[in-house]
Amino acid sequence: MVYTEPAFAKLNLTLDILGRRPDGYHDMRMVMQSIDLQDTVTVTPHPGPEIQVSSDLPYLPRGDGNIAAKAAARFFEQTNLPPSGLSIDIRKRIPVCAGMAGGSSDGAAVLRVLRRTLRPDMSSKELEEIGSLVGSDVPYCLRGGSVLAEGRGERMTDLPPLPPCWFVVCKPPCAVSTPELFSLVRMKRLRFHPRTAELISALEQGDLEGIAVRLYNVFEDVLPRRYAQVFEIKGRFLELGAMAASMTGSGPAVFGLFRDKPLAVQALEILRPQFPSTFLCELVGRAVYN
Ligand code: C5P
Repeated sequence: MVYTEPAFAKLNLTLDILGRRPDGYHDMRMVMQSIDLQDTVTVTPHPGPEIQVSSDLPYLPRGDGNIAAKAAARFFEQTNLPPSGLSIDIRKRIPVCAGMAGGSSDGAAVLRVLRRTLRPDMSSKELEEIGSLVGSDVPYCLRGGSVLAEGRGERMTDLPPLPPCWFVVCKPPCAVSTPELFSLVRMKRLRFHPRTAELISALEQGDLEGIAVRLYNVFEDVLPRRYAQVFEIKGRFLELGAMAASMTGSGPAVFGLFRDKPLAVQALEILRPQFPSTFLCELVGRAVYN
C-alpha cells in the first residue's frame, strides 16, 4: 500500500518568548495558523528494516537526519510496535528553514499515516506526545487550524478560525538558524511583547482588523543586521495594501495579511520577480487534518 498525506505550512500570528527553562528550551506563547501551502508526503512500507527518505530537494537528509524519519522511529519506539521498513517521499513546496514548520509538518504527516494504519485507536493526545519528542512544532502540525500553543509548543488550546482573508508569504534568500536566534534573546532586552490575549479576543469576535494590528513576533527584535530584507519585505507589504505584516517563527519568511484577494494577488505579482519564494495562501481549518 502507498499512503499519501498533505503536510501544511504554519504561520505565527504571534510569537512570544516568556523565559528560558532549565532544560535549555524556552517557554513560548504563540498563536499559530495553518495555511494551504503544502508538501506532499508519501509513505510506502517495505520488507527491509530501514527508514529511507527521498525528496525533490537533493540537499534534504535521506536517513535519520530527516525529521520525517525521526518521527517514524519515535512512533515505533513509543508504541512498542515492531519497526517496519518505510520509504518516505517528500514533494517539497514549503520553503526550507523559513519559520513555516515545513520539516515538522512532514514529520507530523508521517505520524498521522502511521497512527491511521497501525494504531487507529490511539488518541490525538497520545500522538501529540510522540510528536513533542520529535520537535517543538510537531504537536501543532498534527492538529492544525488556529491554535494557542504554550510551553515548548505542546500545550495547545484550540481557537476560533480567522475570518476569511488571504496571506502572501515571502521568503528572502537567507537562512536563519533557530538555535542562534534563541541564543540572541535576552529576556530583559525584549522591548515589546505581543498582546496575545487581545488578539484572541479579536479572533473570538471575528474582528480581522483587531487581529491585524496585533500581529507580532519577538524574534524581529533580535534579528541580526544581515536579515535586513525581512524589514524591507514587511515595508513592501504595507505599501502594497496589507492590513499588517509579520515574520513567522524564527524566519526569515514574512507574511502580509490581506482582506481582499485582488490586493493580495497584486502583492504576489510585484514581489515574486525579486523573491521567487513568494506564495498566495489561504487558511486551512482543523477539519482538513482528520
Ligand atoms: O524542538 P526543536 O528541535 O524544533 O528546537 C530546535 C532548537 O530551537 C532547540 O534546540 C532550541 O535551541 C531551540 N528552542 C528553544 N525553545 C523552544 C523551541 C526551540 O530554545 N521552545
